[in-house]
Amino acid sequence: NNLHLQLQIRTCIYLKQVEFSDGSKYEYPSVFLQDNCTCPSCYHPSSQSRLRKLTDLNLDNKISSLKTLPDGNGVECKWMDGHIALFSEEWLKARRFTDDNIKIRKAIPRDNPQLAGANVTFPRESFKSMLSDDQKLLEMLQQFSKRGIFMLEGAPLEVGQLRKLGDKIGFIRLTHYGYEFTVKSEPNAVNLAYTSARLGVHTDLPYYVYPPGVQLLHCIKQYAGNEGGQSHLVDGFRVAQQMKEKYPEEYKILCEVPVEFYDVGTDYTRFFKVHHSPTFVLNPENGSMVRVVYSNQVLSSYMPLQKELVKSVYTALKTFTDLCYEPENLIEFKLQEGEVLIFDNWRFLHGREGFDTSKGHRHLEGCYIDWDEIYSRIRVIENDMRK
Ligand code: OGA
Ligand code: ZN
Repeated sequence: NNLHLQLQIRTCIYLKQVEFSDGSKYEYPSVFLQDNCTCPSCYHPSSQSRLRKLTDLNLDNKISSLKTLPDGNGVECKWMDGHIALFSEEWLKARRFTDDNIKIRKAIPRDNPQLAGANVTFPRESFKSMLSDDQKLLEMLQQFSKRGIFMLEGAPLEVGQLRKLGDKIGFIRLTHYGYEFTVKSEPNAVNLAYTSARLGVHTDLPYYVYPPGVQLLHCIKQYAGNEGGQSHLVDGFRVAQQMKEKYPEEYKILCEVPVEFYDVGTDYTRFFKVHHSPTFVLNPENGSMVRVVYSNQVLSSYMPLQKELVKSVYTALKTFTDLCYEPENLIEFKLQEGEVLIFDNWRFLHGREGFDTSKGHRHLEGCYIDWDEIYSRIRVIENDMRK
């Protein structure tokens, strides 16, 4: 702490105040101005990249003159070493070192999640509008980021629709189950999802170091029987919050103790995945939830734990699972043919009721998209709309 304070005081001398033509003033560290010089020897414009190496940064370089040019023509900065940089007012203001701007820069679309319980109503839009209307796509992606679920309807009842939507958003996340995967009951299934068995609520691909951020399921054919084939969703962030309040010890275990997940077989390629993750992955900066990682189906029988801890881990996992299945938390519905369910695989757990293959078929197509691609598409469309 003391060191931090000393650093703060020492760097204060290097703060330069810039007064803009509208009268507003902000302070900038001179090393920041130096490092962001956009002259041809420092900066490559088409790639928007720095050319100069950080080893060549002169931390003791001083600004010899700093002046705001008339008529909003920018801010000219001259250094002792003869370097001259010109910054536009707009550029500098957008990079002001103020608390409000730090908040703005740190914000991501998934911030401030709107938690969902059993009685949630799905936000809905037409599937076709996503392919033809960027404004609608933007609104869907923004809403989806906060809500973690979205239902598109009216998709044609044939495979290949998710690829079209994925290409519109960015691109599909390839995994060892391929670009798209077929959820149908089949003999000798490599994944329990490819059977007619009940699937307990889970997040997909917990055995990946980077589990896919978003899952899409397109219902092409729904099981016709009354009993069976229903979908389950549970807002893992909401259940985690309940655990934190009601079962703080168990909550702590799920935040701190990694368990092992594994997946072995052959599908798109031969694969052998193993990964250890805590159930609740938190943001170290502020303790907020980044993702839930949970699947009882593929929880490994290897336990990277001291034997004395095993019972407490099972207790915590069971407490979490019991809460997920509380009627107030479990969202239950039957996907309709032509619907595309999109959900945050870092937040929502999903599952299904089993069904009887002698009484009817069921066919879903699934795929994944990463949050990076969704955030990126949101910014690209927002940027286009500003023009
Ligand atoms: C899956 C899955 C649910 C379902 O494929 O990952 O969980 O409804 N499917 O079949
Ligand atoms: Zn699944």
